[in-house]
Amino acid sequence: MTQPGEAFHRRDGQLWCEGVPLAAIADRFGTPTYVYSRASIEGAFAAYAAALHGRAALVCYAMKANSNLAVLNLLARAGSGFDIVSGGELARVIAAGGDTRKVVFSGVGKTEREIARALAAEILCFNLESVAELEMVERVAAASGRRARVSVRVNPDVDPKTHPYISTGLRSNKFGVAYEDTLPLYRQAARLPHIEVVGIDCHIGSRIAEVAPYLEAADRLLDLVDALEREGIGLSHIDFGGGLDIRYRDETPPAPAELIGAILAHVDARGHGGKTILFEPGRSVVGPAGALLTRVNIVKEGAEKNFLVVDAAMNDLIRPALYDAWMDVQPVALRDGPTRVYDVVGPVCESGDWLARERPLAAQAGDLLAILGAGAYGMSMASNYNSRPRAAEVMVDGDRVYEVRRRETVEELYALESTLP
Ligand code: LLP
Repeated sequence: MTQPGEAFHRRDGQLWCEGVPLAAIADRFGTPTYVYSRASIEGAFAAYAAALHGRAALVCYAMKANSNLAVLNLLARAGSGFDIVSGGELARVIAAGGDTRKVVFSGVGKTEREIARALAAEILCFNLESVAELEMVERVAAASGRRARVSVRVNPDVDPKTHPYISTGLRSNKFGVAYEDTLPLYRQAARLPHIEVVGIDCHIGSRIAEVAPYLEAADRLLDLVDALEREGIGLSHIDFGGGLDIRYRDETPPAPAELIGAILAHVDARGHGGKTILFEPGRSVVGPAGALLTRVNIVKEGAEKNFLVVDAAMNDLIRPALYDAWMDVQPVALRDGPTRVYDVVGPVCESGDWLARERPLAAQAGDLLAILGAGAYGMSMASNYNSRPRAAEVMVDGDRVYEVRRRETVEELYALESTLP
């Protein structure tokens, strides 16, 4: 991730984002700060768009990966739709100037209120996950005199071979409708007066590094499309979900063009080339575009281990603590001198508060580090644990830097609280 031409690269030993040295960003905005590259986000989206060029297709960016308004706005300008999972995410799409008619609503626990808002916003479709949800959508649509467009999110029972917390298409997961229950659910949906069946959907997991599980899921989905058509239930779109991995360390995930090319070949071979194709990528659009910039506060030589205690913590970036995720930690300025092996940890009072383990680094107190590949599921999963204000976020565009979320103040953390009389 530090090659020239990529979002983050080295010039004369210094780490830069596009045309700006990270050290200058730390000076101006402080640390911890998330730094995003506009060119990287737009380039990643363009790779999906190019692979689908000439097709009826829509990329619905899975905004849970990074829902900063500036990120959403750039993607909306590029023509992206959005995969949302809450009313809060819908509100963000609207605030960012996104087109709600390009929104698909995923998730197992939509509330009546969220469904009503989404109907009023005329979203493209609800991805249904249960009979109870279908009945709820029918009820809410009837009450507002509307018809809801729906897809069924099928659980294709395919092993994506990824971390158990982020695989979603196995029978044991809470997600989707069991394969054998799908046709009965479609039949029921097709009979309801306020429901319009428009598509089919799946999402088998995240951090998928191979094409094969996608093709397996695609074939199972296409079997259902055929079966539905035999019953006179025609669909206008097929949504293959998201989940493509990025390179955190030495992973070699397929490029969007390779994945999409392979899936489209199956779709065409099976005679469904006329249908609109949807994808819901999150991580692969924003992950490589972001770094978490942090400063070493304390160098601590422990009994068995050495620690770099930095000013970012698990509340800023929870992926290592939650998934045992390996994130690339780079010194912002290369320093001469011997390296030592360190655990990079935050100040939070939990042993799980670590960002990287056993990394050979030459670092001193006051040095800046950049945690790369942090554009996805970084800030969007951040919390205020230990009463830590969340980090600032900045977007680099060439040689300019824009603050796209200022750092929270401590006072803001308890501004909504009150004491008893
Ligand atoms: N569509 C649906 C319905 C999803 O649930 C997800 C992610 C996506 C699309 C986008 O998947 P992606 O392209 O980003 O892999 N916090 C975890 C990842 C959780 C993914 C949840 N669903 C992490 O940091 O690794």
